[in-house]
Amino acid sequence: MTAGKIQRPNPEQLEALLLVMNFYRDAELQGARLLLNLHRHLHDPVSQTNLSRHLADETRHAWLWTRRISELGGCPMAVTGGYQRRMGQRIGVPKDVMELLALTLVAEGRALDRYKSHAARSDVDEGTLKVLEAVTGDEHWHLSWVNEKLWQIAAEKGCDGRVRELLDRYQAIEREVYAGLEADEATLLAHLRSSP
Ligand SMILES: [Fe+2]
Ligand SMILES: [Fe+2]
Repeated sequence: MTAGKIQRPNPEQLEALLLVMNFYRDAELQGARLLLNLHRHLHDPVSQTNLSRHLADETRHAWLWTRRISELGGCPMAVTGGYQRRMGQRIGVPKDVMELLALTLVAEGRALDRYKSHAARSDVDEGTLKVLEAVTGDEHWHLSWVNEKLWQIAAEKGCDGRVRELLDRYQAIEREVYAGLEADEATLLAHLRSSP
């Protein structure tokens, strides 16, 4: 089977896809909230420009997922225990610009990984693949500029060690959070499938 050659998911795949797309949508919306926090910390014109473009991308991504959910006959749902909320519960409120950038970087890395692995699946339908390809291109740029800005500030403040420690800590927490999210998605899906 060739990725993207399926016109429409079958009913069993559709349920899982709608659930996953609602989680994607929630992560995009909550990611936008994190960027609004960064707007208050990074005042230089280049960062303000990058943040505005980045914020526009994330809200557009949320819209692309919303539209795809509707095209497939689903409904956008408010997600209560999504990715960013779980990360926030484990990491706490970021205290400064380096914590905000490090958290954004780790979350962007997961978004990119998730979208790439979904696009590589053999059961992905054409319409969903188009959305995955559109958002993946943007996520590469997000990772790149946030990474550059984080290390630029670290160099200016002479605190490379703190940034490395922050990234290591956040990545370890993130792996646990993502494993929990995947397990809960599977449980939720099993519950949906067993419901009359
Ligand atoms: Fe995104
Ligand atoms: Fe992003």
